[in-house]
Amino acid sequence: MNRKNILAPSILAADFKTLGDEVSIVKKAGAEYLHIDVMDGAFVPSISFGMPVISSIRSATDALFDVHLMIVEPEKYIAEFAACGADSITVHAEAARHLQRVICDIKERGLRAGVALNPATPLNALDYVLPYLDMVLIMTVNPGYGGQPYIPEMTEKIRTLRRKALELGLDLDIEVDGGINDRTLPLVLEAGANVCVAGSAVFGGDRAANVWKMLGVMERYTEYSLQDF
Ligand code: DX5
Ligand code: ZN
Repeated sequence: MNRKNILAPSILAADFKTLGDEVSIVKKAGAEYLHIDVMDGAFVPSISFGMPVISSIRSATDALFDVHLMIVEPEKYIAEFAACGADSITVHAEAARHLQRVICDIKERGLRAGVALNPATPLNALDYVLPYLDMVLIMTVNPGYGGQPYIPEMTEKIRTLRRKALELGLDLDIEVDGGINDRTLPLVLEAGANVCVAGSAVFGGDRAANVWKMLGVMERYTEYSLQDF
């Protein structure tokens, strides 16, 4: 099966005083998604930003807005995130009390739907919702902060999910988030991830050069086949 690899710079690590420029620089350099981390201080220890920031950068870029909700009761806010410009909304399995319902709500609004799993959450949390999903986000750190190191046990988790998706014939995006840089990128790509979030590895130093370097690695992985997993 052909694969489409996508780089999703996380604006959590961007310079907020020039956020509009930051997002247009990474899009121009070739990143197709913009990963937008919403943190509420309850599901995760930290607080990031919410709807007003997302609405204001919507006009700065036509990148796909990949909104990662690290919030409790995400079902209460789907309509508002859709209205402020989200193209894809990912909720945590650990945070949504009625996961299947919130996925359907996202889909009915014409958006892409994703579910994120914390490192300790088993893949079988997805058993009865996988066919509804466009994307699964395998957290490769515990959510809450940028700049944490990749958790090595997650490589096998990614591989198991890609194998399962291929066995079921699902064209599933597998996104990875946390500690992704040019050293860990080959591990996750080889394991079958195809949407790669990177915060500090993109927004530290020369943004465009960082994007090109990561896209260069991603280009080497062109397809999936079951025997590789
Ligand atoms: C972590 C966030 C990540 C974060 C990744 O809770 O979900 O998206 O920005 O940052 P890096 O790439 O620096 O690990
Ligand atoms: Zn994220």
